[in-house]
Amino acid sequence: MPKELFFPVIETERLTLKPLAIDDSDSLLEIFSDPEVMRYWNTAPWTTIQDAIDFINESNDSMRRQESLILGVYLKSTGELAGKCMLFSYDQESKRAEIGFGLGYSCWGKGYINEAGEALIKYGFDSLGLRRIEAEIDPDNQSSAKALVKLGFSQEGLLRQRWEVNGIVSDSAMYGRLVSDCPVQHNQAMQATSA
Ligand SMILES: CC(C)(COP(=O)(O)OP(=O)(O)OC[C@H]1O[C@@H](n2cnc3c(N)ncnc32)[C@H](O)[C@@H]1OP(=O)(O)O)[C@@H](O)C(=O)NCCC(=O)NCCS
Repeated sequence: MPKELFFPVIETERLTLKPLAIDDSDSLLEIFSDPEVMRYWNTAPWTTIQDAIDFINESNDSMRRQESLILGVYLKSTGELAGKCMLFSYDQESKRAEIGFGLGYSCWGKGYINEAGEALIKYGFDSLGLRRIEAEIDPDNQSSAKALVKLGFSQEGLLRQRWEVNGIVSDSAMYGRLVSDCPVQHNQAMQATSA
């Protein structure tokens, strides 16, 4: 596949999704060191700037290997980094990937993931040729479950005691959306170019 496909710039009404840069390290650390944001994540909150730098470098490496798409979510109004969204565990033969997202607490409840998620899903289906996008969340993560349902995902199963993070064992709820599922109605237009 052309390498540009894994380094897109995706525009929505209020947001720009584009690959993270090292300059984003401080903002990224601020977001992902917040225990509220990381409450249902499968890793502990970040603690040092090196965590953010490593994440950005590893993300860009995995995009170069065409294994995932990990994009910063930026507010068009201020240029501020609101969080990140990603398609990962990409399986080219099975035309499948997993979706994940995380926003800084101050950006919750504004429908940003609805907007960013729909644009990313559309890109996955139309540009990467995916047939299926799946998501795995902690069943207690109500905001994420609501966001997924709004994005047209259906819950497909529950995997018991799948994770242990900092000694806490948790289940995983599995969600899926197929390209052939009914499209979700959205007003936002989306445009994609290369980074
Ligand atoms: C999950 C998440 C991305 C949702 O994004 P969002 O842009 O806030 O989504 P929405 O604005 O559509 O809100 C979804 C739901 O979140 C909940 N929510 C929003 N703001 C909230 C807040 N300040 N406190 C608690 N819940 C809140 C609401 O239940 C809302 O549902 P509603 O619209 O029916 O009221 C965001 O909450 C987040 O980053 N959470 C932490 C990271 C995470 O858990 N990611 C999922 C793992 S993949």
